[in-house]
Amino acid sequence: MSGPALKQGNAHEAIHNAALFEADELTTVVRQLHAEQMLDKAKAAAQLVVEHWQTRTLRHATEEEEGLYSEILAANSERAVDIAALTHDHDLMRKLVSEAETYLTSDELKLALARFDMLLWLVEAHSREEERLIFATRPTEGASK
Ligand SMILES: [Fe+2]
Ligand SMILES: [Fe+2]
Repeated sequence: MSGPALKQGNAHEAIHNAALFEADELTTVVRQLHAEQMLDKAKAAAQLVVEHWQTRTLRHATEEEEGLYSEILAANSERAVDIAALTHDHDLMRKLVSEAETYLTSDELKLALARFDMLLWLVEAHSREEERLIFATRPTEGASK
């Protein structure tokens, strides 16, 4: 899902949450298979996790950079610092996915799983920050609770 949905706060947040939920579920499957020493199945499932990050979250990130982010910057250059921070998060996501893929190629499943856990944390933190900075659908950190 892309285009207009990215510009609408609630729809955008729903995209984040659906993709993150699925990534979390898939990663749990990999972790269980790995713990049970079903290594071939764990590796196959881990490959699906990599594909999930590539086709959902990384594609979403690229669409944001090419569309939403550049439109925000064109309208208001004062947002450059926010957009640079969000884009840096995207670059870290790309690096983690790429590293996980490399670890899978060399059968280092434990290291790939560690990258998946980092991705789950980073993508959730990034999503909440993006929702706060772009849509103001999140309170400033520390402002609530
Ligand atoms: Fe993003
Ligand atoms: Fe987003």
